[in-house]
Amino acid sequence: MLEGKKILLAVTGSIAAYKAAFITRLLIKQGAFVKIIMTKASSDFVTPLTLGTLSKEPVLIDFLKDENTGEWNNHVDLGIWADLMLVAPATANSIAKMVGGNADNFFVATYLSAKCPVFVAPAMDLDMYAHGSTQDNLKLLQQRGNHIIFPESGELASGLVGEGRLAEPEVIVKHLENFLKSQMSLSGKRILITAGPTQEPIDPVRYIGNRSSGKMGFAIAIEAIKRGAEVTLISGPTSLDTPKGLRSFIQINTAKEIFEVCQENFEQDAIIMSAAVADYTPKDFSEEKVKKKADDWAIELTKTQDVLKWMGENKTSQKLIGFALETNNEIENAQGKLERKNLDAIVLNTLQDEGAGFQTSTNKITIIGKNNKSLDFELKSKAEVAVDILNYLETILLIKG
Ligand code: CTP
Repeated sequence: MLEGKKILLAVTGSIAAYKAAFITRLLIKQGAFVKIIMTKASSDFVTPLTLGTLSKEPVLIDFLKDENTGEWNNHVDLGIWADLMLVAPATANSIAKMVGGNADNFFVATYLSAKCPVFVAPAMDLDMYAHGSTQDNLKLLQQRGNHIIFPESGELASGLVGEGRLAEPEVIVKHLENFLKSQMSLSGKRILITAGPTQEPIDPVRYIGNRSSGKMGFAIAIEAIKRGAEVTLISGPTSLDTPKGLRSFIQINTAKEIFEVCQENFEQDAIIMSAAVADYTPKDFSEEKVKKKADDWAIELTKTQDVLKWMGENKTSQKLIGFALETNNEIENAQGKLERKNLDAIVLNTLQDEGAGFQTSTNKITIIGKNNKSLDFELKSKAEVAVDILNYLETILLIKG
C-alpha cells in the first residue's frame, strides 16, 4: 500500500520523538519515500543523524540551509512533494501552532503549504492531553480535514498512567495504509477471479488439459489488488507466482472442483471468469494406469457444468464478466455467450489476432457489454489489458441491479 508513496514525517519535541525512528523504518521497509522535518526541540530527543540515516534523506530543521550562501529549504516545494504528511509525535505546542497558523518555524510553514492529507499523532502527558485547549485544538484540526491518530493509554514518561502515549509505530503506519486503501477505486469491493486451465484426469498419470497459462487472470488479480479490492483468486495449475495481497488463493485441478469452490465463494461484488474450464471430462476415471492397447483408444467424455452459466442463472447483484476465445464469427459468438450466460460483459479474444490468447504475454481484446456495444483495444501486455478490463468493471459497478 505504501510502495512508492512520498511521505513527509514531521517530528516535534516530545520524548516520544525516538519512536519516529521506528516509524521511519516501517515506512521505508514498505517501499515509501520518506523526508523528515524536525522542530529544534525534537532534536534534543532524537538526533537528525539517526533519522537522516534511516530515511536516506537529509533532515530539515530550519529555513536556512547554508548561512554562507544564503541557500534555504523550500517549505512550499516540500508541501507539494508529499502524498501524505504525518506529524508524529505532535506536541501540545505544535498542535496549537498548527491550529493558529503560527508559521514561526519550518515545520508549521511546511504544514500550511501541504496540499496532501495530514495525519497528526499527539503525544504528551495525560493532563496536557485532557486539557480543554488541547482537546479544542484537536477538534479544530479534525474539522479542517486533518486526521488524528489518537494517543493510547498507558504509562507515560512522567510516571503517571493515562491517555497521551503516542500510538505505537505499527498502529500509526496501519492508519496510513488504511487511509490509502480507502482512497482506492475498488476499495471494499470483493472480486472473484478465476484463472488458468483445468486438468481432467483419465488415469493417475494422464489428463485432458488446455494451453491456458493463467497469465491473464493473474494480471487481472494483481491490478484489482492495486486498486484496493479484496480479491479471491481461484486458479488451475500454472507456473506463476501467487500474487501478494490476495484475500485468498484457491488452487483447483478439475472443472468439478472449480464449480464447487466458485459456489462456495459466490458472494462477491464482481466475478471475472477467465479460467479455461474444460467443457468435457472423461466419463470414467481409471484407478490404474491404462495400459497401451493393441488398437486405437477412445475415451468417452461427459459434459461438465458450465460454471459461468450457473453464475448467470443464480446471480443477485454480482457483476459477471466472462471470457470468450473465438476463431470465427467472433463478435456474434461472444454476444451469444453474453446473452445465454446472462453476463454483464464478455471479453473477447480471437486466435486470429497475433499475440492474443493463450501462453502469450500480450493480448488483444474486445469488450462487449450488455447493450451489445463493443469496445476494441490495441494489442497490449496482459498487465495493460487488465487495466482496461478493470476500468470497464468500475463503470459497470456503478450501475445498480
Ligand atoms: N466456462 C465456465 N465453465 C465451463 C466452460 C466455460 O465457466 N465449463 C466459462 C469460461 O471461464 C469463460 C466462458 O465460460 O469465461 C466462455 O467459455 P467457452 O468455453 O469459450 O464457452 P462455451 O459456452 O463453452 O462455448 P464454446 O466452447 O462452444 O465456444
